[in-house]
Amino acid sequence: MKELSEALCQHKKEPSSLIPILQEVQGIFSYVPKESLKEIAKYLKIPLSKVYGVVTFYSQFRFTKLGKYAIKVCHGTACHVGGAQKISEALLDELKINLGETTKDDLFSIERVACLGCCSLAPCVMINDRVYGRLTRDKVRKIIKEYRKRG
Ligand code: FES
Repeated sequence: MKELSEALCQHKKEPSSLIPILQEVQGIFSYVPKESLKEIAKYLKIPLSKVYGVVTFYSQFRFTKLGKYAIKVCHGTACHVGGAQKISEALLDELKINLGETTKDDLFSIERVACLGCCSLAPCVMINDRVYGRLTRDKVRKIIKEYRKRG
């Protein structure tokens, strides 16, 4: 992992570099590869369990690669009241994965977020940079089918 070695060199060898390093690694790969954890622990001279603990504690980090179409399902208050749970269930059912996972063809990944900042359109999801609002189960299924067609 040449990119990882280059990223590590940019940071001081001290425990406080852990989060900036993880952010950079995720910026490079779109996720934190599990194979990188040992290297990071070794570089910072901290236990592997500490690195693992930080990645799993902060929701900004993920162990799975983002799909070509990264879906964020809003579960903020307005979307929750508007039926976010049903929207999530329809998406997971359509994609046959769980929250935080990526489909085998790397086309879709899905994660839960707190608020997308467009509460008046609740319930909403974001796919890459595009927001879809006032969703129903049928609408999200149609949207996913359209993205599938695009490939
Ligand atoms: S609560 Fe969903 S966009 Fe704000």
